[in-house]
Amino acid sequence: MSQFKCTLWPSGEVLDLNGEETLLGQLKKAGKKIKSSCGGCATCSDCIVVVKSGELNLTAQTFEELRLLGNVFHITKERLSCQSRLLGDVTIDISAHEKKSTPVTKTVVKKTSTRLKKREDVEKTVKEREEMAEMKPKDTWFKHWEKEEEDPNKPKKLGGNKRPRPFNYSETDKDETEE
Ligand code: FES
Repeated sequence: MSQFKCTLWPSGEVLDLNGEETLLGQLKKAGKKIKSSCGGCATCSDCIVVVKSGELNLTAQTFEELRLLGNVFHITKERLSCQSRLLGDVTIDISAHEKKSTPVTKTVVKKTSTRLKKREDVEKTVKEREEMAEMKPKDTWFKHWEKEEEDPNKPKKLGGNKRPRPFNYSETDKDETEE
């Protein structure tokens, strides 16, 4: 059984792996945490590893892998570890699997208690509000549809929409002749 060196990036740890078993199985045996939820059937894409170097030292992408990841390896450098076997030495990045998943925060629902007020207190606040309402000036509010009509004789203030008056040449000509 041929043995190859698999370097883990960025730690630099070197594992001796064979070319018979899949990368996923061997990494798991070596105690590395690799996510996988489909059991190596190439349907979940959780087991992705990023190939840093030696991409030609991995077996060609299977039909199932291409179907799941697409033909974008030359851009992403991602391979499914459950579908890949070693043909030589490689360097892979599994740091995405080592990251701790964010803990699910429990939402704390506060118990709301109803505050009971005494009848006297309620009456007192109602009285205060009524007094405040009476103190407010009442003329500030009006119904615009009930507004008094303006004096029709009063000239309306028109703003805009005015054409400029033409310049009167006759007056200037007159002045010149007079002088
Ligand atoms: S383990 Fe699910 S795709 Fe590899």
